[in-house]
Amino acid sequence: MSIIRSVFRGSGAYLPEKIVTNADLARIVDTTDEWIVERSGIKERRIAADGELTSDMGLAAAKAALEDAQMDAQDVDLIVLATATPDQTFPATAVTVQAELGITHGAAFDLQAVCSGFVYGLSVADNFLKAGQHKRALVIGSETFSRILDWEDRTTCVLFGDGAGAVVLEAQEQPGGPGDRGIFTTHLRSDGRYRDKLYVDGGPSSTMTTGHLKMEGREVFRHAVTNIASIMRVALDANGLSPEDIDWFVPHQANKRILDGTAKKLGTTDEKIVITLDRHGNTSAASIPLALDTARKDGRIKDGDLVLMEAMGGGFTWGAVLARW
Ligand code: UT7
Repeated sequence: MSIIRSVFRGSGAYLPEKIVTNADLARIVDTTDEWIVERSGIKERRIAADGELTSDMGLAAAKAALEDAQMDAQDVDLIVLATATPDQTFPATAVTVQAELGITHGAAFDLQAVCSGFVYGLSVADNFLKAGQHKRALVIGSETFSRILDWEDRTTCVLFGDGAGAVVLEAQEQPGGPGDRGIFTTHLRSDGRYRDKLYVDGGPSSTMTTGHLKMEGREVFRHAVTNIASIMRVALDANGLSPEDIDWFVPHQANKRILDGTAKKLGTTDEKIVITLDRHGNTSAASIPLALDTARKDGRIKDGDLVLMEAMGGGFTWGAVLARW
């Protein structure tokens, strides 16, 4: 029996021009290139220019995704923008992107699940498309974490960067079998008991300031490996698949050691994991679409490939999306 699925029509990405290497950071805080590479796998990150906003980067990624999809912005009737670093407290950064794209119909809103934002965004958009409420969605992850970092805290400032990525999803009728294209299942989890392990110490209703990122790195790391491996299992089991069936794992890009740890737990090989964190660090909600776009444009992810995406972040929030490109 045929079924409506959210099919990936295109992807796009944007990274700011300014590159900050580990050596550059070693001039600001007490750190070394060796420590950062060994503990995280990150070699450099991008930092947004003065006046360059989350909406600017999200717009650039969205335009690239629309071009890749060979689609006009007017065809889009839903924009879900995942970010923890919006331009303003309100309105949503998504409506700025919507206006810049010249779209005046449909809906645009922000979604806040920190590093899990893109996975949450895909899930939300997928459910709208499957329900028939919207036809074509832009799902964007865009972040300017450089603006919420404490640049004197070596334990956090070396890990994050700025950037944006986007995909275009379209509701399409598919045969309803394992060879379908599009999203098969999405799986979201959160556990607010851990909200003080990774947070920003400011906000409109608490301090009336923006605040800075705080993290208990070791604790986050420990939970990340367990939660990510478990949600990947859930996604595989829900589809009757094993890790060998997956063509590409596209994880949230936080730490190479987290990726190694989860790969080991799952029994997968490194060659199937798309890793881009060495070039842009942890870009939170932007990291999965940045990696997706890289692997599509360099020819690794091809039409028909099975892709498993996963993320874990502040909240804690975590989740996975299983799809055929
Ligand atoms: O997107 C989801 C959110 N974030 C994450 O997933 C990040 C999760 N956590 C991590 O990636 C890792 O825990 C870190 C990369 C943050 C840290 O690695 P670690 O192996 O857990 O190191 P640690 O925090 O246990 O620190 C080890 C040592 C400490 O020194 P002492 O106490 O052993 O003397 C730190 O003070 O490394 C020190 N250290 C540094 N040294 C040089 C911490 N940051 C730095 C630094 N440069 N930048």
